[in-house]
Amino acid sequence: MNTNTPLSTNPKLLQWVQDVAALTKPDAIHWVDGSEAENEALCAKLVASGTFIKLNQKLWPGCYYARSDAGDVARVEERTFICSKSKDDAGPTNNWEDPVKMKATLTGLFDGSMRGRTMYVLAYSMGPIGSPIAANGVEITDSPYVVVNMRIMARIGTAVFKEIDKAEKPFVPCLHSVGAPLAPGQKDVIWPCNKEKYIVHFPETREIWSFGSGYGGNALLGKKCFALRIASNMARDEGWMAEHMLILGFENPKGERTYVTAAFPSACGKTNFAMLIPPEGLTKQGYKVWTVGDDIAWIKPVNGELRAINPEAGFFGVAPGTSVKTNPNAMASLAKNTIFTNVALTPDTGEGHGVWWEGMTDEPPAELIDWKGNKWTPSTVGADGKPVKAAHPNSRFTAPARQCPTIDKDWENPAGVPISAFIFGGRRPDTMPLVYQAKSWEQGVYIAATMGSEMTAAAAGTVGKVRRDPMAMLPFIGYHVGDYFKHWLNMAKLAKMPAVFHVNWFRKDANGKFMWPGFGENARVLKWIVARAKGCPCAKATETALGYEPAYEDLDWTGADYPKAKFDELQAVDVAKWKAEVEDQAIFFAKVGAKLPAELTAQRDALKARLG
Ligand code: OXD
Ligand code: MN
Repeated sequence: MNTNTPLSTNPKLLQWVQDVAALTKPDAIHWVDGSEAENEALCAKLVASGTFIKLNQKLWPGCYYARSDAGDVARVEERTFICSKSKDDAGPTNNWEDPVKMKATLTGLFDGSMRGRTMYVLAYSMGPIGSPIAANGVEITDSPYVVVNMRIMARIGTAVFKEIDKAEKPFVPCLHSVGAPLAPGQKDVIWPCNKEKYIVHFPETREIWSFGSGYGGNALLGKKCFALRIASNMARDEGWMAEHMLILGFENPKGERTYVTAAFPSACGKTNFAMLIPPEGLTKQGYKVWTVGDDIAWIKPVNGELRAINPEAGFFGVAPGTSVKTNPNAMASLAKNTIFTNVALTPDTGEGHGVWWEGMTDEPPAELIDWKGNKWTPSTVGADGKPVKAAHPNSRFTAPARQCPTIDKDWENPAGVPISAFIFGGRRPDTMPLVYQAKSWEQGVYIAATMGSEMTAAAAGTVGKVRRDPMAMLPFIGYHVGDYFKHWLNMAKLAKMPAVFHVNWFRKDANGKFMWPGFGENARVLKWIVARAKGCPCAKATETALGYEPAYEDLDWTGADYPKAKFDELQAVDVAKWKAEVEDQAIFFAKVGAKLPAELTAQRDALKARLG
């Protein structure tokens, strides 16, 4: 078989590559060195095959555009499996299948699945190469689109193969095929994929097999599959945490940085919060926010404190709603060397297309090509007479993190950054106040475990329905949710745990209008959170049925004119709504079943009693 020189001498890896090639029967094998020249060649290949359109390089230097198959636009949770030996180890929130049976099914699907294609062997490090907190994976894929995206999202190539050759830590094998073999002479489609999709995790053997999809978390296997589902298993066994959290540093006027993490469900503003620019009233005093990561945190106890790294090297951000007003740092991050998927194209000026998505500018351009490749104008309606969106709601940008103007000086520190607070929150139109603090670690775990949020377009499902999304990890916990809660509680034995807060930027009034401006204004809440987490006597709070809440005067309103009455309404505890909330939590707790830790039931009962 046609192959370039193998870049590894690791016998396990060489054997696995050989076995996979024998099964999937590709035309060629390409060991990915991660170089600039290789990347250029792969992008040129993607342009030639029609998967990529090179954008207007004057406006969008180094940027490419891809349009996916209309049936391959989001993570497919109902096709995602945790195949532990025992069904009980996967628990009630995961799809389970017997690993032996699943391997047999997958072996059948992968047999010949790479015919007519090149098989890429891509070594990647989640986290700075060689960091004690980082870990290595190898993705074998038949998608060059995946290779060039992974090059942005992780550290890849020769240096990682060298790390794997040292064999100090086992690598996680990740097998991916779009499941679209080509017969001799068959013309390829621009987005090869298969209607049948399988995103499969084998927690005991730490393996990932993904078949049929080329999109995002289904295919870029370092992200959700490794850094969350498999890593959550590693973390439980080894005493650390793999979480769906952004990491940011809040700098005070003395130049001191306090790092916090925040867990919000997919498409609930983690990228915006991670890159937040405080309002003028705070920036003038010297407050700043620095970005460490926008989606995933690996958190380890070191000498009694928690230290976190961002295992990723890029942002796979939701494009719609991102603008110079809502997130100028994201706009600067994606201004060059970025891959856009499923956004809309502006007309070709002769020098190429540009990109656009809903919310990028106040007014849409007069004419676009929508994410399906159709001509689009602001008055375009669908068969149902409703306006058609130019960009898919889950359209994405893949941008290098180093391009973010607020990237933190320590974002690649192999030792990570110390974490002082955990923040949780979802999209809640009612009930949840703007902010409150848990009174203890147990209460914090309870608050995180019962988190709810309206569903978004990041996953196939019913957009807008509130679902319980514990720790924003519902689709990503790679084992039994009850054991996961227990692991969280147990972490307190390994380190001093950070203060825990719950926020809600999405409360609506009776007319359905958002009550809180969000975005930069969230820094006022963040300032209070950081001061509380640090135990500063300057940060006052009142004890309520929920925990500790700030009064209006406890937040820094410099330069703001947000009315006190509205703030009081935002923070008020609506007892009837909270009683309904607690009842709804009971449905979720019942689903968790016998493994639900007693500490969480005790917390719920205590809240019930406080509500009266
Ligand atoms: C993501 C997600 O892509 O959570 O980050 O869906
Ligand atoms: Mn995410």
